[in-house]
Amino acid sequence: MTTEWHRATAADAEFLAGLAAVGVAEVAAFLRSWRVHITATNDAAVAVLPPADGQRRGYGAWWVRGGSDEAAAQLVRLARATPGVRVLQIALPADEIVDDPPFERAFSVWTMVHDGISWPEREPELAAPLRYCGPGDVLQDEFQHAYEQAYRDQRLVEPRTLWDRLPDQGALAVTPDGRVAGFVLGFSQADGSVELGPIGTVPGWRGRGVCTALLGSVLLRSRGLQLHLTVDGESPTGAQELYLRHGFRITARLVRYEVQLS
Ligand SMILES: CC(C)(COP(=O)(O)OP(=O)(O)OC[C@H]1O[C@@H](n2cnc3c(N)ncnc32)[C@H](O)[C@@H]1OP(=O)(O)O)[C@@H](O)C(=O)NCCC(=O)NCCS
Repeated sequence: MTTEWHRATAADAEFLAGLAAVGVAEVAAFLRSWRVHITATNDAAVAVLPPADGQRRGYGAWWVRGGSDEAAAQLVRLARATPGVRVLQIALPADEIVDDPPFERAFSVWTMVHDGISWPEREPELAAPLRYCGPGDVLQDEFQHAYEQAYRDQRLVEPRTLWDRLPDQGALAVTPDGRVAGFVLGFSQADGSVELGPIGTVPGWRGRGVCTALLGSVLLRSRGLQLHLTVDGESPTGAQELYLRHGFRITARLVRYEVQLS
């Protein structure tokens, strides 16, 4: 196994699957979609996902067999050597604490699943003059514009500019002139469940029930499906409370750490 930083290979996928005790296919899909670079020794692997064009945050991960204090330091070194990364983020289970000085606690991250019981009875009304649209009915530029505005105060992920595939589930709220006011989108997964997100309302339309209505509409049409999502557990816009009110339950509590690299 090479210890040089390199684009992940099939051999890395196999090595990581053994290290993290998960299936090779699952790891290979992760490595492909995340385009990670990796450095691996016999008992540890460290990976950085470089930021997409125009973005500044990279994401890091490590997998360690037994205990190793080196992984966190190695990850920071790898991130520093990665072009374009100014902030490195990692998430760990809330009971695992990183006490390495460059890692600063940023906020908590919760994964949630819908309880499978709290389905709405009817389509909620949208604030006038908004109307509902499906993911395929909206111009990509209009969506991208709304997404970038809505995600300015979203700390979990930066809005994407490159999509491997477009969201195939969800609902948008659109003004009479075709502007997107809000969106609750999702991706169907191979196991039949739906991963919700991105979810957002542009600042000028917030606090008028747009997200409440969109989420209700999506839930109405998703009865019986397993819906999951990931949210900033201390979101300044209160997204986590909105999901809890719609029947979502917390399945894991993580803590997001950040390292400022520049
Ligand atoms: C989180 C977010 C999507 C909420 O969107 P929103 O359209 O403002 O949400 P709603 O209006 O449905 O609900 C927000 C508040 O308005 C209130 N509200 C709901 N319907 C209302 C109505 N008809 N009139 C006035 N207020 C209303 C809700 O009670 C809620 O208040 P509370 O949180 O104090 O209880 C939005 O703030 C956002 O885009 N945040 C940044 C992106 C983000 O974090 N997304 C989550 C990713 S996981």
